Amino acid sequence: MKGNEIRKRFLEFFKDRGHTIQPSRSLIPEDPTVLLTIAGMIPFKPIFTGEIKSDLKRVVTSQRCLRTNDIENVGKTARHHTFFEMLGNFSFGDYGKKETIRWAWEFLIKELKIPKERLWVSVYEEDEEAFDIWHKEEKVRRDRIVRLGSEHNFWAIGPTGPCGSCSEVIYDRGKKYSCGRPTCGVGCDCDRFLEVWNLVFMEYNRDQEGRLRPLPRKNIDTGMGLERLAMILQEKENTFDTDFLKPIIDYTASLSGVGYGPDRIKDLALRIIADHMRAIVFLIYDGVLPSNVGRGYVLRRIIRRALSQGRNLGLAKPYLHKLVSIVIDIMKEPYPELSKDKEHMERIVLGEEKRFLETLEQGMKVFDDLLIHLLREKRKEISGEKAFELYDTYGIPIDLTQEVAAEHNLTLDKRGFDMAMEEQKKRGRMAWQEIGQSRVKTIYNRLAKELKATRFKGYDRTTLKAEILAIIKTDKRVKKAKAKDEIDIILDITPFYPEAGGQTGDSGTITKRGTRIEVLDTQRPLPEIIVHRAKIIKGSIRKGDKVEAGINIGKRLATTRNHTATHLLQGALKRVLGRHVRQTGSFVSSDRLRFDLTHFAPLTDEQLSRVEEMVNEKIRKNVKVEVSMMDLKEAKKRGAIFLVGEKYGKRVRTVKIGDFSLELCGGTQVEATGEIGLFKLVSESGIAAGVRRIEALTGKGACRFMKEI
Ligand code: ALA
Repeated sequence: MKGNEIRKRFLEFFKDRGHTIQPSRSLIPEDPTVLLTIAGMIPFKPIFTGEIKSDLKRVVTSQRCLRTNDIENVGKTARHHTFFEMLGNFSFGDYGKKETIRWAWEFLIKELKIPKERLWVSVYEEDEEAFDIWHKEEKVRRDRIVRLGSEHNFWAIGPTGPCGSCSEVIYDRGKKYSCGRPTCGVGCDCDRFLEVWNLVFMEYNRDQEGRLRPLPRKNIDTGMGLERLAMILQEKENTFDTDFLKPIIDYTASLSGVGYGPDRIKDLALRIIADHMRAIVFLIYDGVLPSNVGRGYVLRRIIRRALSQGRNLGLAKPYLHKLVSIVIDIMKEPYPELSKDKEHMERIVLGEEKRFLETLEQGMKVFDDLLIHLLREKRKEISGEKAFELYDTYGIPIDLTQEVAAEHNLTLDKRGFDMAMEEQKKRGRMAWQEIGQSRVKTIYNRLAKELKATRFKGYDRTTLKAEILAIIKTDKRVKKAKAKDEIDIILDITPFYPEAGGQTGDSGTITKRGTRIEVLDTQRPLPEIIVHRAKIIKGSIRKGDKVEAGINIGKRLATTRNHTATHLLQGALKRVLGRHVRQTGSFVSSDRLRFDLTHFAPLTDEQLSRVEEMVNEKIRKNVKVEVSMMDLKEAKKRGAIFLVGEKYGKRVRTVKIGDFSLELCGGTQVEATGEIGLFKLVSESGIAAGVRRIEALTGKGACRFMKEI
């Protein structure tokens, strides 16, 4: 059975049992506290926790996932991967253990006809109910049901968040795959007992203090590795021999002229490359670019790991980019859009390959110097620290360092290296956990709980009467403030736009009789509260004062012109350069706009001039800008542009400019494009591999610029 067929059968099976088939979401979760989609349940996390109310009851997906925790095992075992697809059925407070177990068994035994004799089951040691369902209802023999502790049969998304006990279905591949240890059995980490399907009874949420709290509803989250299932059904030795990965191995083998099978080191390299290549393609597809932080770093490490393996195959020149099309070919059935990004992906991979090979070359020079130094000093060992530096800064793999060391009769402090590596991983984990976790000052957390949410009225008002709800001075709440004080002010209602979505915050004034306060900036540290960063020029204020809040209109209008122009710019770039163009960042202030986009080469003069002309043409046409609220689903259906990795609520604000542009956006917009006046590109540059930055002016700023040149 072909891999694609298995996926289809799974989705259909659960569709027939009342589940809605949903497409796979991105590898970049909408939930900003999670770095990567590591399981099928990630997109549904807010539904499980009750954060989002949803009408969904039963869903089935085949979710693309990426995990890096097993990366060292990839290729060595028959079953570990970075990128994989997770088949999963989910119940949100609907069906329970009984149906979950029944359907899992039915799908494996009846639908896929996997011989019962091959299957084992594990349950959480305290879960009598699950044991009974397997034994009494599904007639699984007692001696085939293994009770395991929480290290095996309690699944959690992470240190905090939704979790619950679980039950697994395990496929026994036979004695020949056993590690031979007397303890080898279900739960052993060798290649004999293959965990196929994990059924999680998601009933708890673990809080910051580590306590388990019952979730509002009992849920079901299951996950089955598609590649593992393919390995069983296609009767292969390992997942790499399935039709999901074998063509990549074959192609790489043909590129390098080596065979697959005879040589352990070469086979391992081929498997690692095949696995990593799928991760690379899908990370870039989901908008990640190689960099030194967060997801970009994950991608960079995976590309470098794959590339280093080429050495074992005698591939010295860039070659990974040639494998992009093979992956696309394998995955084009579930992902028909992949091929549109082919060229973009190839360029990104090639760019990174070249960059890495250059670094490696530099690293080898540093290594040579080190060797000369060590030998001159008659030293016998390369320190772990040095080896780690070579690895971390220059990408020289540890086994290469070891080889070269041996050639010069030097030993290598591998323990020191491992320790340095562990340290770095710890730092990495910390950095990951920090992503998205608010570094909001406690004072704002307290205020957000205590005060009513600030009402933002700045889309259609520039001045408003308001009441001062709180004054904050050097992180402390105060009752009053006087002239020269620099303070944060929270009002009940405000026309001030807080910095968001790349648009800078408003400035302006807050006044009352005898008092004048200058607002320098506006921020939104938490969704509920808007903070005016201010300085009292004259007079004084107290909590509870009634004031007049007015924004600097000229500055706001200039910012607004730049903001709408950014939308036009994105529309023009997609038309001139292609649909692979994605926004990776933007900055919109009153005096200029900046737009970062994914593109593989500098823009030519001709392209720049076409983009500029297209935007100006839309300005001259004075197209109406329509802002409306709609369901996220609807917006997506209409093809609205939204930022990958950004968290959106169910109802979203969309900005439509004729049929030229449709974007999800919370910023301020002109009423019709004519207000922008003039659009002038002023610079184009590269800021990272595959990322270009464009700067432009509009309105008065653009006119001034034209006069000056
Ligand atoms: N969320 C469960 C897992 O990843 C199904 O194993």
